[in-house]
Amino acid sequence: MTLEAKIREKIQLRRERIDCLKREHGDFVISNVTVEQIYSGIRGVPIQVSDISYVDPEKGVRYQGYTVDECINLLPNPEDSRFPYIGGLYYLLMTGELSTVARAVEIEEDWRARSEVPDVVFNVIDAFPDGAAAMAMFSAALLSMSSGSKFAAQYADGMDKKEHWIPMLDDSMDLIARAPEICAYIYNKKYRNHEHIKPDPGLDYAANFAHMVGLDDPQVYDLLRMTLLLLADHENANVSAHTAHLVGSALSDIYLACSAGLNGLAGPLHGLANQECFKYIQEVCDRFQGVPDEDSLTAYLQQTLSSGRVIPGYGHAVLRSIDPRFAVEYKFGKATAADDPYFQTAKAIFKTAPAILKATGKVKNPWPNVDALTGVLFNHFGLTHSSFYTVLFGLSRLMGFTCHIVWARAVNKPIERPKALTTRILEAMVSEQNLENLIR
Ligand SMILES: CC(C)(COP(=O)(O)OP(=O)(O)OC[C@H]1O[C@@H](n2cnc3c(N)ncnc32)[C@H](O)[C@@H]1OP(=O)(O)O)[C@@H](O)C(=O)NCCC(=O)NCCS
Repeated sequence: MTLEAKIREKIQLRRERIDCLKREHGDFVISNVTVEQIYSGIRGVPIQVSDISYVDPEKGVRYQGYTVDECINLLPNPEDSRFPYIGGLYYLLMTGELSTVARAVEIEEDWRARSEVPDVVFNVIDAFPDGAAAMAMFSAALLSMSSGSKFAAQYADGMDKKEHWIPMLDDSMDLIARAPEICAYIYNKKYRNHEHIKPDPGLDYAANFAHMVGLDDPQVYDLLRMTLLLLADHENANVSAHTAHLVGSALSDIYLACSAGLNGLAGPLHGLANQECFKYIQEVCDRFQGVPDEDSLTAYLQQTLSSGRVIPGYGHAVLRSIDPRFAVEYKFGKATAADDPYFQTAKAIFKTAPAILKATGKVKNPWPNVDALTGVLFNHFGLTHSSFYTVLFGLSRLMGFTCHIVWARAVNKPIERPKALTTRILEAMVSEQNLENLIR
């Protein structure tokens, strides 16, 4: 059964469940919003339904109910690999069902067949100076494919809105299929003197990316499979996924929506943190000419805080314990990069930073998040340019963006339009003064 047929099979039941919730419990109050929350990034206010993945504050992300460890154990792997086919992961994210080897391979074959990147994309990337930000190139590359959107073309011709999800899925599959070569093109332009390498149709999705940046090594293949799995989605309310979903709710095509999501991911408090984090570890190693002792590191971390900076890779808006994605990376690092001074420094920070962050009394989660190690591992295995790391995050996160958007169309979610208030209105609300006079 194709991915489209499997989603079609599930749509009716999902629509009925949502209709039932709205019909029978439409007035049920989920939460109240406080003045504090409205001025604090709407933190903790439920604003979305996120059936693709959910972040449990203690246990971390669950993809369609499965923890990352369960995904690693239950999804099928390419031969001799410790990590699953990305095609199988995408099948799980889209359908909620575990994939067989055959299904995973079928999805990856479908991607292979769709993977030809239009020339306009390369022209757009080439128009950037080599020194331009990799994420800006990635985002622009996606925008340049918008004119080829099947959804936009069919929408312009007029179509039943119940069918919107079908060309949206088609576009999503095209986008995911082309993304590795686009990312590799950016990498090779920026860091390998424009030496481009053709895809190898014999390799799986993740391994093929490694091949296209000149890293043909089974350990790098596994690193890529692991990274693409760990970063694929993190609920639908974080900056990038929410942005992509919001733009998609205006019925903008998948390229416009995902490009917008990538722009959010490029921010230092979000996806750029993996670059910032590795740079910070390098900074620590440079400062101490190697792995610092505990006292020196404590002083350094405290100085970071007192100078108004954050300790990158630590803290989270939702998680309240060690990110299980960090735990997977840590295990991988211990097995493959234990002697690397950057891994050892990251390990030392892991031992020292939580107590220091806790002592501030304000950091809600002092534990490491996924970004605390990704850069160390990339660097160890030859991806030494930290200014590229967020692109790899984006390559993975496109899976989450597209699954949320396809399902938003499948259940006909309306355009998003929450309400905004003014400070004067809030003042009037809390003081019970005459609202009308204050609005003027
Ligand atoms: C991820 C992050 C943006 C979450 O922010 P948040 O939800 O506002 O986090 P909190 O509610 O715990 O923040 C409370 C305070 O602690 C600070 N804080 C949180 N994490 C911190 C960190 N790693 N280093 C220093 N201060 C931190 C916040 O800046 C905030 O300070 P303020 O009140 O002076 O503005 C934040 O933890 C952070 O900046 N971490 C470092 C960057 C990072 O790793 N990002 C990747 C996230 S996956």
